Amino acid sequence: RFEGAWIRISVVILAVFLLAVLASGFAMGVQVPGVYQRIDPRTLYDPGSPFANPGLRELAPGKYELYLRAQIWQFAPNEIHIPAGSEVTFYVTSQDVQHGFKIMETNVNMMVLPGQISTLKTRFDTPGTYEFVCHEYCGQLHHTMFGRIIVE
Ligand code: CUA
Repeated sequence: RFEGAWIRISVVILAVFLLAVLASGFAMGVQVPGVYQRIDPRTLYDPGSPFANPGLRELAPGKYELYLRAQIWQFAPNEIHIPAGSEVTFYVTSQDVQHGFKIMETNVNMMVLPGQISTLKTRFDTPGTYEFVCHEYCGQLHHTMFGRIIVE
């Protein structure tokens, strides 16, 4: 007798979950971190590798890409200056162990793994200092692994 009611309740719950996912994705700008491509950590310093000389590159006015290399226990670079109003695509990889990358006050939050390049995109409209941290425990000096983005 109650089976019909339970099925209807289940369908409603699924619909609510689906709406929550769609709302967070489209309305709130939550993104699933993407795997941009695989990379052999031993090749990070090869000539021509963007991770050998990481940093900000301008693609077009207001559009940038930022290559970041994570290693125990620092990010390279760990201070980046970005003009306000820029859209930045991050490409982050690790040369050793698993790290994390989270920029405060933005939607950028991802794992950083050796062997893969993680990517996310965000806009910096408001000038200020945006701290970023490694938020995956990566050893003794994990807590010293941070940096900042200065939007000006
Ligand atoms: Cu790198 Cu914690």
